[in-house]
Amino acid sequence: MSASNRTNIPNSLNEHWMPFSDNKNFKKNPRLITDAKGVYLTNHEGKKMIDGSSGLFCNPLGHGRREITEAVTKQLDKLDYCQPFNQGFGGSFELATRIAKKTPGDLNKIFYTICGSTAVETAIKISIAYHRAKGQGHRFRFVGRERGYHGMNIGATTVGGMINNVKTFASVLMPGVQHMRHTHLPEHKFVKGQPETGADMAEDLERIAMNFGGENIAACIVEPIAGSTGTLIPPKGYLKRLREICDKHGILLIFDEVITGWGRTGSAFGAQEFGVTPDIMTMAKATTNGVIPMGVVACKDEIYDAVTDSSSAPEGAPELFHGYTYSGIPAAVAAALAVQDIFDKEDIFKRAKEMSPYFQAGLHALKDIDVVTNIRGYGMMGGIDIKMKDKPGKAGFQTFKHCYDAGVNFKSTGDTLIIAPQFICEKKHIDEIIEKLRTGISNYAKS
Ligand SMILES: Cc1ncc(COP(=O)(O)O)c(C=O)c1O
Repeated sequence: MSASNRTNIPNSLNEHWMPFSDNKNFKKNPRLITDAKGVYLTNHEGKKMIDGSSGLFCNPLGHGRREITEAVTKQLDKLDYCQPFNQGFGGSFELATRIAKKTPGDLNKIFYTICGSTAVETAIKISIAYHRAKGQGHRFRFVGRERGYHGMNIGATTVGGMINNVKTFASVLMPGVQHMRHTHLPEHKFVKGQPETGADMAEDLERIAMNFGGENIAACIVEPIAGSTGTLIPPKGYLKRLREICDKHGILLIFDEVITGWGRTGSAFGAQEFGVTPDIMTMAKATTNGVIPMGVVACKDEIYDAVTDSSSAPEGAPELFHGYTYSGIPAAVAAALAVQDIFDKEDIFKRAKEMSPYFQAGLHALKDIDVVTNIRGYGMMGGIDIKMKDKPGKAGFQTFKHCYDAGVNFKSTGDTLIIAPQFICEKKHIDEIIEKLRTGISNYAKS
C-alpha cells in the first residue's frame, strides 16, 4: 500500500500488537490518523481534529514542518548512515555544540540515544560509571519517585513509580531502588502554577539516605514536572531542596526532561525554569519535533572527564562500554539541527512562555464542569482529573473518546486528561482546544 492511498482501515488489524493500548477494544473501533498538518490531524473517516497534546508531547513546532522534512531528505541523499562507534560525521558534533549552548551550567557533554527510555537507561549507566571512576563502586542504589515515569526499559521501569508498569515485571527489575513519595498533596487541588506547600517532601531523600547510607546512593532521578501521571507541578523549593540533599551526600541529581525539555515550561529546560541545575539531564521527544526517534543525555563536564580520564583501556577500546547502533544517526541529527534552527529563528521558548498564561486560564475555566475534580498546569502543559467511575481509568478513557468525537485529540492516563498544546498555537487554537474539551467532557458527563 503506498503512502498516498494508506488512508482507510487496512484489510487486517490483527497482526500489529499495539504498544500501551487496549488492543481488543481498538481493533473493534479503530482510530487511525491519516494526515497531520500544523495543529490539525485528520482521521481515517476524514474527520479533522485539533492536536491537544502535541502528539505525545513531541511535536511542539506543529506537524509537517517543511524545513525538517527537507533537512532529513537532503541528509539521506548525502549520507544515510555511518557507524557511530569510533567513527562519526560532522553533524552529530555540530548538534552537540548547539544543545550544550542551551543546557544549564556545565552540562556540556552530549551522549545520543534512541528515545527517552534509552536516555534514562544511559543516565543510570553513566552514573554508575562515574562513581566507579571516582573509586566509589559501592554506590549502586538509585532513588526515584512515586508517580514518576521514565520509560520502559528495565532500569527506567524500576526508577519509575507507576504501579501498573511495574507489577508484571517485578521479578526482573533492578535491585537497590527506593522511591520518594510523590508531591501531589490533597491541598494542591485547582492550584495554579507551583504549589506553596510540599517542599518538605524532598526530605524523603534524606530519609532514604539515612536508612541506606547516602554514600551508597548513585543518583536520584525525577522529572521536574511529572508529565505522564498528569502534570504534577513541583512545590516551591522542592527541587532546590533535592539538590541540597544530593550535594550533601555526593548523590548525582538526574532531571528527566523528556517532556519538560525544549520549551514546555517556557524556558529551554525545567532546570532553568525552576533555577536548579542537575548533574545529568535526559531529553527526547521534541528534540526532533517527534519525527525521528532520538534521545539525548547531557552530562556535566566533570562526569565525562572522570569517566574518560580513568580509562586504562588500550587504544581504540571504549572508555564507556555503552552505545546504540542508532546513536546520533544522520537522519535524526538532521531533523534535530533543523529543529534547533526553528527554535532560534522563531524564538520558540519565548513564544511558549507568552502563550502559557492564556492557555492556563483556559484550562482552569473548565473547573465548573461537575465531573472535573482537579486541574493543574504549568507552562504549556496541564492535567485535568475526571471523577473516577467504578474502576480507575474508565472515566478518563470514556472522556477521551467523547473529546475525540468533539474534535480534540490528546492522551489520557488513568482518569487524567493530559493537555499539551503546540507552541505554534495562536490564541484561536487554544480557544478551540478548550471549547472542544468543554464539549467532550460535558458530553461524557451527560452520557
Ligand atoms: C519523562 C519521560 N521519560 C522517559 C520517557 C520515555 O520515552 P520514550 O517513550 O521515548 O522511550 C517518557 C515518555 O513519555 C517520559 O515522559
